[in-house]
Amino acid sequence: MSKPISRILLVNDEKLVLKALVKGLNAAARQLDNPLGATFIGVETAQEALAAIREDGDIQAVIVDDQLHRVGEQGGARKKKLQMSALDLVHAIHAHRPELDVYILIAQQDEAEVVNTLLCEAVDGYFYRDDPDYFGWYRILSTQLLERAHTPFYDKLKQYVFMAKDAWHTPGHSSGDSLRGSPWAEDFYDFMGEHIFRGDLSCSVPMLDSLLHPTGIIDEAQQIAAKAFGAHRTFFATNGTSTANKVILQTLLAPGDKLLLDRNCHKSVHHGVVISGALPVYLDSSTNLEYGLFGPVPKQLIFKAIEDNTDARAMILTSCTYDGLRYDLPPIIAKAHEHGIKVIIDEAWYGHARFHPEFRPTALEAGADFATQSTHKVMSAFSQASMIHVNEVVEFNEHVFRENYNMHTSTSPQYSMIASLDVARRQMSMEGYKLLSRTLALAAELKELINSTGVFRVLELDDLLPEEVKQDGVRLDPTKVTVDISASGYTVDDLQKLLFERYNIQIEKSTFNTITLLLTIGTTKSKVARLYDALMRISRETRAPRRLYRTPAIPHFTRLKYLPRDAFYCGGELAPLLDEADQVNQALAGRVSSDQVVPYPPGIPVLVPGQVITPEIISYLVNLLRSQKQTELHGVVFDGWLPCIRVLTAEDEAGLRTLDGKA
Ligand SMILES: Cc1ncc(COP(=O)(O)O)c(C=O)c1O
Repeated sequence: MSKPISRILLVNDEKLVLKALVKGLNAAARQLDNPLGATFIGVETAQEALAAIREDGDIQAVIVDDQLHRVGEQGGARKKKLQMSALDLVHAIHAHRPELDVYILIAQQDEAEVVNTLLCEAVDGYFYRDDPDYFGWYRILSTQLLERAHTPFYDKLKQYVFMAKDAWHTPGHSSGDSLRGSPWAEDFYDFMGEHIFRGDLSCSVPMLDSLLHPTGIIDEAQQIAAKAFGAHRTFFATNGTSTANKVILQTLLAPGDKLLLDRNCHKSVHHGVVISGALPVYLDSSTNLEYGLFGPVPKQLIFKAIEDNTDARAMILTSCTYDGLRYDLPPIIAKAHEHGIKVIIDEAWYGHARFHPEFRPTALEAGADFATQSTHKVMSAFSQASMIHVNEVVEFNEHVFRENYNMHTSTSPQYSMIASLDVARRQMSMEGYKLLSRTLALAAELKELINSTGVFRVLELDDLLPEEVKQDGVRLDPTKVTVDISASGYTVDDLQKLLFERYNIQIEKSTFNTITLLLTIGTTKSKVARLYDALMRISRETRAPRRLYRTPAIPHFTRLKYLPRDAFYCGGELAPLLDEADQVNQALAGRVSSDQVVPYPPGIPVLVPGQVITPEIISYLVNLLRSQKQTELHGVVFDGWLPCIRVLTAEDEAGLRTLDGKA
């Protein structure tokens, strides 16, 4: 295993003092235990300090002198001027890399005054310059770094596995004993590896704590995660952000409570509406028909929805979207809060944002009350491993949250998934900045290489943004790269097949005219080179370019006649989308959907339970079914070859109350 490096930066404008401090602390690091590879370096100015923090991803802590001067000439006399106050420097460091430990070196006489002036969350501790106890200082610095790098759950899991206790409990494979030596199953054991099985334990092991009632190492791991991600409380979720969203909606919303939601929200949010019995107010997302992409909801539309629904209990938006578009959240959240509306941000694709200034502010930094993140999507956790971050302090009802959390969580959670969350957090906290800097550099390089093919073109923010949100301060996560492929002459399905079969490349997703490449902290230079090689070769085939396929416009939202929960729990009946002449079944117009119907891509529900069906909606679905691009239609059921959807019967409707009081 490669050894960690932890550089600790001292900022002091007095050359000799700085030299002595660096020397003394490095000597202490050499003589004492140094598991994290701590070394000390020094700079004399605030500007040099900020440059070092920007450029050196191995810097883990900073010690700032309480008064930084620069020497200037004034009327021939040398005079000292303040470079930047220590507090300003601490804030600048925190704004750039909030994960760093920051200490103040007190040189002034009145230390109480310094501590009072500099008292802020970003300061982790103080050292007194006239008391250079280098061993003591080093131990304090080293202990704090070790705390940040600590993985309580993962460490204990490993320790337990190495104790090799005899298992008289679940799971049935009993540390893999049922598989080893089996002619039918040993190959699975060999393929997966020993520790997958040895680490697959059950809640019968008390020293491993309980995800459903954490009081030990899981609680500790969650607390460290909360600090790292800037949350008040953090909860690990082992069934993805799909479950995390449902837990929060069910916690916040009682039946009939109003929820403002982007219609483009992930289907788990729509499921949360059904489960909670909430009354949804759908906000239409902006649409870019040229590239078949769905953008954020226009800011003015959100503001108007808030003003029109000041009685709403909560609002949920997705930021960033699958395509990397992120809202200018602070004013939106502030507007919702003006009316006491809780804000939940689905950051399934944006969990890494805390660890690089390019991506910030995070939803929590922008003031959101809750954020859900798929730690597995772009960081190192196993699939399904997500986090729920809570920023409510006084109003957070932990008991109600816990009841809902437990309702959605298996009583046999996968322990390696919990360990992976612990480790993913450690990795981001200790080297997230460095890894994300590399990923951003690779994204810039990839973009240049793709554009240099002259055939494939990376879409810029301006290409991606639908017209109606161009002035809304929306930004793009550069690690999600959307490429216009139309000039290659290939259809997207054929190109995907070619990349997969001939070039061994699997992409993230596609639309009619684009492919999307997802860069993560695991993206390497070799993968970039191989992708470029493939695209360059395909470009040289000189096929005739084709026109952009125009994505069928998604029909606007129609009337919501019944509460989604009421409509969903009716039996309903299956009704065909096509009539006997194989044409659009006009008889469906005016009927009410019992299910959510979601074409994927784009993944936006065309129908939700309780919504009135129109001829445009049926035509849209039929067009998608007949289109040459394969589109999954979630919610469409095939009765033999006939595509059907579930709708309410007349008897169902007779038993329901309409939302607007009309028939
Ligand atoms: C916006 C959004 N939210 C939530 C989810 C669900 O996340 P998970 O796969 O972690 O359940 C997804 C999945 O793609 C998503 O795109």
